[in-house]
Amino acid sequence: LTAEKDGFDHFMLKEIYEQPKAYRDTMRGRMLDGLEGVKLPELKVLTPERLKEIRNVHIIACGTAYHAGLVGRTLIERAVKIPVENDVASEYRYRDPIITPETLVIVVSQSGETADTLAALREAKRCGAPVLAITNVVGSSVAREADDTIVTWAGPEIAVASTKAYTSQLIAFMLFSLYWAQVTGRADTAQLRHELAAMEALPEQVEKLLEQATEMKRVAEDMAKHDNLFFIGRGVDHAVVQEGSLKLKEISYIHSEAYAAGELKHGTLALIEDDVPVIALLTQPALIEKMVSNIKEVKARGGVVYAITDEAHAELVGKETDGVFVIPTTLPHLSPALSVVPLQLIAYYASLARGNDVDKPRNLAKSVTVE
Ligand code: G6P
Repeated sequence: LTAEKDGFDHFMLKEIYEQPKAYRDTMRGRMLDGLEGVKLPELKVLTPERLKEIRNVHIIACGTAYHAGLVGRTLIERAVKIPVENDVASEYRYRDPIITPETLVIVVSQSGETADTLAALREAKRCGAPVLAITNVVGSSVAREADDTIVTWAGPEIAVASTKAYTSQLIAFMLFSLYWAQVTGRADTAQLRHELAAMEALPEQVEKLLEQATEMKRVAEDMAKHDNLFFIGRGVDHAVVQEGSLKLKEISYIHSEAYAAGELKHGTLALIEDDVPVIALLTQPALIEKMVSNIKEVKARGGVVYAITDEAHAELVGKETDGVFVIPTTLPHLSPALSVVPLQLIAYYASLARGNDVDKPRNLAKSVTVE
């Protein structure tokens, strides 16, 4: 078993470090020469003609895959200008969603075997909607039943807490949204080249970020002393902190909540008092100023703010917070592929500091095949 962990103490840590490879493997063969566009020959039902008929998108998943879908929504709406809704699979059928043949239903599932996700997929098909699966397991139930599948090449994920599967799902959404924009004439070659070049740089940027992993160990050991903490972010950063908060809960058993930073003042701010830790994520240039004023609200109540931001904003953010971890700068909408990594590390090291079974947290299963 030690050999399988390649010298890492846990599968989760190994899988965190496998992310650069997972990104490269998921991108491989899917970009045209000269980065002039995306190719997804696996899409058989979702031809360019069929994609042109789509009027709205539903992204359905559970847990971490649901959080990948939240980022997917931003990517698709931005690139394709079509409205996207996110649902957790266990709720989808029961809200009588409006599903038509012009609705594209995207199901996201690492295992491809989650019962709720599979049931949602079947409901979508019953209503005549085309279904696209994003999954890590070739030949899984979800892959077999969907009309088309984009496989994430993250490789087997053993730790219950998902890391490289989530980030590979982000890469799949990036590729698919650009492909869709390309085949429907919403993106020109220059734009595509710009986006794809930024994507190609991501694996190396993750490698660079991982060189500072021990910094997160220090932060996590501090977090592990608390029983409650908060994550804040705006825009796509809010989607990412939701995943960071879930990761922390799953394996450290520390209670945390992820808030859209602007929403704090509408209630949750009442919970901020001396020494309450708040982890703030700031990667969106257009939202930095608003984030900084939310951070000031927290600091004024005695909260301790630890920030994760990119090189472009490190100086500004550093002045307003109690500590800062700097990640490389990328295009704002691609940032989740970098910014989630320090959050994964915080969860990992906090779990370790608390003496928990990192790879096999209590009460949880890797794949849940009951509704
Ligand atoms: C379980 C796992 C989660 C995972 C979720 C969805 O709850 O513990 O880590 O995100 O199922 O799994 P899936 O295989 O459908 O992505």
